[in-house]
Amino acid sequence: MAKRIVIDPITRIEGHLKIEVEIDEGKVVNARSSGTMLRGFEIILKGRDPRDAQHLTQRICGVCPASHAMAASLNLDSAFGVKPPENARIMRNLVLGSNYLQSHILHFYHLAALDYVKGPELAPFIPRYKGDYRLPDDLNKACVDHYLKALEIRRKCHEMLAIFGGKMPCHMTFCPGGITESPTPDKITNFLWRLKEIQSFINDVYIPDVLAVAKAYADYFAVGVGCGNLLCYGVFDLDQEGTKKLLYRGIYTDGKLGSLDTEKINEYVKYSWYEDKTDGLNPKHGETLPAPKKKDGYSWLKSPRYEGKVYETGPLARMVISYLQNEPTVKKMIDEVLAEFKADMGVLFSVLGRHAARALDCKFIADSMESWLLQLKPDEPTYTSCEVPEQGTGMGLTEGPRGALGHWITIKDKKIDRYQVITPTNWNASPRDSKRQLGPIEQALMEAPVKDPANPFSIVRIVRSFDPCLACSVHLLTPKGKSLGKFRVG
Ligand code: NI
Repeated sequence: MAKRIVIDPITRIEGHLKIEVEIDEGKVVNARSSGTMLRGFEIILKGRDPRDAQHLTQRICGVCPASHAMAASLNLDSAFGVKPPENARIMRNLVLGSNYLQSHILHFYHLAALDYVKGPELAPFIPRYKGDYRLPDDLNKACVDHYLKALEIRRKCHEMLAIFGGKMPCHMTFCPGGITESPTPDKITNFLWRLKEIQSFINDVYIPDVLAVAKAYADYFAVGVGCGNLLCYGVFDLDQEGTKKLLYRGIYTDGKLGSLDTEKINEYVKYSWYEDKTDGLNPKHGETLPAPKKKDGYSWLKSPRYEGKVYETGPLARMVISYLQNEPTVKKMIDEVLAEFKADMGVLFSVLGRHAARALDCKFIADSMESWLLQLKPDEPTYTSCEVPEQGTGMGLTEGPRGALGHWITIKDKKIDRYQVITPTNWNASPRDSKRQLGPIEQALMEAPVKDPANPFSIVRIVRSFDPCLACSVHLLTPKGKSLGKFRVG
């Protein structure tokens, strides 16, 4: 008989996620991923001045506010019909880039590493599931030291962000038309020396640690495969037209690369706590009508789908889509890693593939930021003047550390009439859609090996490989029905 495990909440992620799995003969046979809170920012934004959007939407999340600021600013630029100057494009990229580096280092050392590295038997390292720890003692000890060093490096990332953002979290300087900060020579220098130290940490510590974990746990190259389809909006504009990006836009469907058309994005709510009449809408027409008592509902996340299909987003999608479009640096980095493991691209669709992709994403962005910094022109403008239009529509697509992030706006009488946000975790942690297709994390959990239902460490390894971020407004539920156990994961 199948046994049911409920992990609620999954800790060492951002926000509140409940995972339920059924296990039969040592394998997962059913999985449900539930976002246990209502974000509701769409409702808060209605009727407000559009120029507040980049400030308010940053409050969706204290970990990745810079991505919301970027998506909102691009959204407003498009609705206002304004083109920010080159300095603004570059400084926005540097702020977002700083947040990426912080977030990826946070994810590996402070959220995921304790699944693979045996921490000391004291807080904050306990309580936790007992993993099958396999690192040799000296390497394990080095990783624990790096856990502490990573805290210091993350602080440097925040300081770096604050140079052009004012503060972190929820920086102050992005606005439609540009940025309110100026690139003075002392700010450029201050940014550069911090970046150099962070780059050394990524190259000499983070990348080697990820590869060492991958070698010790190589079976996780075959665990947590997921849906296999990938989606990336592209990120870090390298020109003023927004056509050239550091990481490329695209989709990867059933083994083939394709181009992205946002008209093909729809959000389904059959199993989400929203009114059924909002099922299947494109986000530019999206509605957020909560229905907390809905019988079939099991999540506050809607289910975004592309052409009705399930897509994973995140560093894995960014790396694979740029790799297949022959972005030279990405191609070289991925080929080197695959050669080291004598493997082909297929192994990337896994728990370890996601960790490796995230580390390479981090390195690529850090290495690129230095050249952006040197393109700043201290005496040139950072802002193009603009006015709130009487009415209009906009769209802002970017990538947060965790994947594709889109903001959509409709302005009426100079006020926000409609605002819709689809976050990366909306894609990855989505529940079933109206065709009963499982979301990406749910699919990745299927067939996962669970030897001991009282210690389901493989489940949390899979979920954490996606680096889910469920924003922070508490609305916890108690699991209904009989469950085998309810766990707090340390
Ligand atoms: Ni977030």
